[in-house]
Amino acid sequence: MKHLLKLSDLSAQEITEILDLADQLKYEKKNGIPHKHLEGKTLGMIFEKSSTRTRVSFEVGMADLGGYPLFLSSNDLQIGRGEPVEDTARVLSRYLDGIMIRTFQQKEVEDLAKYGSIPIINGLTDYCHPCQVLADLMTIREYKRSFHGLKMCFIGDGNNMSNSLMVGAIKMGMEFAIACPKGYEPDADLMKWASENGKFTCTESCADAAKDADILVTDVWASMGQEAEAKERQKVFASYQINADLMAVAKSDAMVLHCLPAHRGEEITAEVLEAHAAEIFDEAENRLHAQKAVLVKLMKD
Ligand code: CP
Ligand code: NVA
Repeated sequence: MKHLLKLSDLSAQEITEILDLADQLKYEKKNGIPHKHLEGKTLGMIFEKSSTRTRVSFEVGMADLGGYPLFLSSNDLQIGRGEPVEDTARVLSRYLDGIMIRTFQQKEVEDLAKYGSIPIINGLTDYCHPCQVLADLMTIREYKRSFHGLKMCFIGDGNNMSNSLMVGAIKMGMEFAIACPKGYEPDADLMKWASENGKFTCTESCADAAKDADILVTDVWASMGQEAEAKERQKVFASYQINADLMAVAKSDAMVLHCLPAHRGEEITAEVLEAHAAEIFDEAENRLHAQKAVLVKLMKD
C-alpha cells in the first residue's frame, strides 16, 4: 500500500490490517503507552473544503505519532491561484513525507499521487471518503465483533459517503442496501462492482433498505460544493430520514452511524441521533485511531 486514494484500491486483508493496528494504537493512547512511529516526519494537510474532524484528527494524530502536521489552506497556496497539481506535487514531495488532501475532484488526488513521490491520503473528495469509512468499519467491529452476516443500510444521497460505505461493506463481507431518490444513486461503476461481488440492493424505499438492518447510516442531503442545490434537495430528500419509524423495521439492536456534521430534522431526527450518540461519537473518535494506523502504514520507514 503506497497511498490511500480510495477504498477500492485496498484488499480486505489490507483493510483488516489497518483496523487491527488502529485498535492497537487506540489501546496505547488510552493507556499512555508512547507510540512515536513517525518522529521527524512531516504531513502536509491541504484543505480546499471545510473540516472539523478530519483536520483535528490528522493534526492530533501526527502529534501523537511524534511527527509534525502542516495545515495548508488552498486559500493561501498557489494551487488556489491555478498552479498545476503536477507542479505542486513535485515541489511538496521535496519538503514533506506525506500529504493528506481534501478537495473536489478525485482526479486531483490521483494526480498528486501520479506526479509526487510521497504517500497521498484522500481526506474526502466528491467521489469518496475512505478515511471516514475505515473509522466506520472500526466502530462496527467494536460494537458487533465481526462483519460476518451483517446488513448495512444507507439512507439518502448516493454521494462520497455512500460510495465508500458500499465498497467497505461489500469488501468486508456485509450486505449493503441503499435507499435513495431516483437520479441520486451512487457511482454506477461501483454499483456494478458491488452487485458482482456481494449482496447489494438500491431502492427508492427506505423501509425496504432498512428491513432487518444491523447498521443504519445516513449523511447530509447536500454535500460541500452542492450549496446551490440545497433548496431543491430539501424537497427531493424530504422522506429520506432515519427516524423512529424507520428504526422499527431494522433489527432491535441496530446501530446508527453518521459521519457528521448532522442536520437534525433532515437526514436524521434529533431523537435517533441522541439515542445512538454512543456509537456516533465513538465513530468520530475512531477517525483519530484509524487515520493514525494509515499514517503508520504509509509513512513509517
Ligand atoms: N466527517 C468528516 O469528515 O467531518 P469533517 O468535515 O468535520 O472533517
Ligand atoms: N457528504 C458530505 C460528507 C461530509 C463529511 C460532504 O461531502 O459534504
